[in-house]
Amino acid sequence: MSNFIVKKVAVLGAGVMGAQIAAHCINARVPVMLFDLPGKEGQPRDAIVARAVENLKKLSPAPLADASQAELLETGNFDDHLDKLKEADLIIEAIAERMDWKHQLYAKIGAHIAPHAIFATNTSGLSITELGSALPDPLRSRFCGVHFFNPPRYMHLVELIPTASTDAHILDNLETFLTSALGKGVVRAIDTPNFIANRVGVFGMLATMLEAEKYGLSYELVDDLTGAKLGRAKSGTFRTADVVGLDTLGHVIRTMTDKLPGDPFHPLYKQPAALEKLIADGKLGQKTGAGFFKKAGKDILRYDAATNDYVAAGAKADELIARILKEKDPAKRIKALHDSTHPQAQFLWAIFRDTFQYIAVHLESIADNAREVDFALRWGFGWKQGPFELWQAAGWQQVAQWVKEDIEAGHALSKAPLPDWVFDGRDGVHRPEGSWSPAKKAYVPRSSLPVYERQVFRAPLVGDGAANGATAGTTVHEDDAVRLWHRGDGVLLFSTKTKLHVMGPDVLAGLERAIGEAENNYRALVIWHPDSAEGGAFSAGADLQSMMPTFMAGGATALDPFVARFQNTLMRVKYANVPVVAAVAGLALGGGCELLMHASRRVASLESYIGLVEVGVGLVPAGGGLKEIALRSAREAKGNDILQFLKGRYMNAATAAVSKSALEAKKMGYLSKGDVIVLHPHELLHVASTQALAMADAGYRPPLATLIPVTGRYGSATIKAQLVNMRDGGFISAHDMHIGSLIAEIVSGGDVDPGSRVSEQWLLDRERAAFISLLANPKTQERIMGMLQTGKPVRN
Ligand code: NAI
Repeated sequence: MSNFIVKKVAVLGAGVMGAQIAAHCINARVPVMLFDLPGKEGQPRDAIVARAVENLKKLSPAPLADASQAELLETGNFDDHLDKLKEADLIIEAIAERMDWKHQLYAKIGAHIAPHAIFATNTSGLSITELGSALPDPLRSRFCGVHFFNPPRYMHLVELIPTASTDAHILDNLETFLTSALGKGVVRAIDTPNFIANRVGVFGMLATMLEAEKYGLSYELVDDLTGAKLGRAKSGTFRTADVVGLDTLGHVIRTMTDKLPGDPFHPLYKQPAALEKLIADGKLGQKTGAGFFKKAGKDILRYDAATNDYVAAGAKADELIARILKEKDPAKRIKALHDSTHPQAQFLWAIFRDTFQYIAVHLESIADNAREVDFALRWGFGWKQGPFELWQAAGWQQVAQWVKEDIEAGHALSKAPLPDWVFDGRDGVHRPEGSWSPAKKAYVPRSSLPVYERQVFRAPLVGDGAANGATAGTTVHEDDAVRLWHRGDGVLLFSTKTKLHVMGPDVLAGLERAIGEAENNYRALVIWHPDSAEGGAFSAGADLQSMMPTFMAGGATALDPFVARFQNTLMRVKYANVPVVAAVAGLALGGGCELLMHASRRVASLESYIGLVEVGVGLVPAGGGLKEIALRSAREAKGNDILQFLKGRYMNAATAAVSKSALEAKKMGYLSKGDVIVLHPHELLHVASTQALAMADAGYRPPLATLIPVTGRYGSATIKAQLVNMRDGGFISAHDMHIGSLIAEIVSGGDVDPGSRVSEQWLLDRERAAFISLLANPKTQERIMGMLQTGKPVRN
């Protein structure tokens, strides 16, 4: 049998990680059993697991894509239900980080594991080889490490760590499952303390803390310098530590202290004094309310080691430094930091230097090749660019020279010299043929596991010269706003190039052109954007900015033709003679939501945030979103009371609700039952294309236009009565009430008798009239201007 099918997963340990990993299995529609210790005397036997499952519904960010699915988790305890373990094809152990406890558990469960099952541990730092030594021989070949990052639904990285006994085939099967079924980015690591991401990432944090002290920079200033400005997590360094938990961080550091005695950086593997003091005082960061920072009302205070108290914090990066960090060319950026005498620049150069030295010295022992290090930091620590990538992009030899000079001059944190391969004349570690492996003295190509054939474009990497979705394939038409192209499979692809893929007249023209082109020469049209797999959006809606000049010159009514065109284009999408599939990931708001509602089918990443949010800018959806709400509600009602089906959908639009996952979007009615959800965003294009072709093959015809039964005056009056309560209770403003009433009138079909049947165009006309009337309203204008200026909704 060559298929590896995971029918069921067992997760052992229902703590922070175990419970969330189990939840993510449910997100991925993988049946899962969650085990923990039995409850104490007098408690129900499954009390610990039951509490963990309850907690999953409350945790933020949400581990479950649909909280109501918590009940799908099967629960058990290690004393009463071990016989159930044999049902599992994959067992993930995630109990507390103690070698002896894990060994005891392994001894207890060994006999209950099915002979084909894979057994993996989610330890963050213990030796996988030592853990495996407690297992009976036949199980050792099916044992490995599988290191998820917290929170596991959202952190892309999973490190896969074999031992010398692990069967290669098992690893491939596990990598396939983690990648396609769970949507994770797999990096293979060598069995060394803390593996790759935490080893390099936590070293980076330690180095940052030490250099900050050396240059006399405060925590909040360091966070400002090492956060978004460096292309890293917004929380920078110290606040990240607070979020992770200072005890957890201390734990990772302790592992390095204990397990890496021969490391040339070993003297640094200790808690900086302030960190040690905070941990000793139980100030563990966010979970205890105080750490490096503490909230006091609206203010954020910073810990002050000198007084052992919290003081005001407000320092920001110097303008000059902020400007250097904005420089797009990495060579110029790094040079500017290196050459500058400004302490903030010297600090930044120092932390880069320290990390470059560290990864060069340790690459050979911690990873097979440099690609694993870059992906580990990108996917596990949220760096936009990996450290080797940055070094290569900044000019390998020049940077290497500077690092060498600093080491020799005693400026670096360790005297360990850069390895010889750094200076062998190379211009980097990533090349088209692969990434550098010091152990193999060769460039290792990417994994050729069949699962990666599902990723039309793999995660990009500096220097690998691989094709990307912005330039690959054959271009049919391209301008500043759109690209129409194909990959030779009969599917025309439509990609937009605007910021957040907003839609103005140029994009609409491009979409109309794409539909015509697809109807004439292709079998299907797929709407897909190259950045969708790398955190991009599907579309943030209509381009408000592009409407401004017309509005300024001619007032609200001058925009009527644009809105009409928007509606017509989306109707063309709906009634196109070839299937139009929307490949959705990230934000799909307002007009973006309406666009996907008009497609023939949607393929959506689990992480899709979809909603009709026009109310936020004082408008109503006018691209057919409300029309579709009326139509879908009537269809589902099947002759019963339409209002029952309308209410939820109406509320979503009236409160600008946005789904927190594709599963929620299905419940809200923005995605349809038959739509496909994918876990790995890099598979979006493959799945959307195959869906589109299958629909074409099945003899696709667009829907037949029908008249829509509506609730009329009765419906809008009923809904409005609810709005009055909300306004009188102070939940919504008078202007919200006004907009809500307009929405109620549209979804009810306007001033007609209940049970009347209206056309789609009738509803579209009502949407457009309401939209234009609101545009002329000063309260709406205030909301729009606020959004354009600050990006935040104005409440008025
Ligand atoms: P936790 O403390 O939240 O949960 C541990 C669970 O193990 C608890 O539910 C507890 O009842 C159970 N347990 C304790 N002693 C046991 C024993 N002797 N036998 C059986 N079960 C026992 O721990 P957390 O944070 O979920 O960590 C679990 C594992 O995941 C550890 O190996 C940790 O290093 C690793 N990890 C943790 C990460 C994190 O950010 N918290 C990230 C990645 C890995």
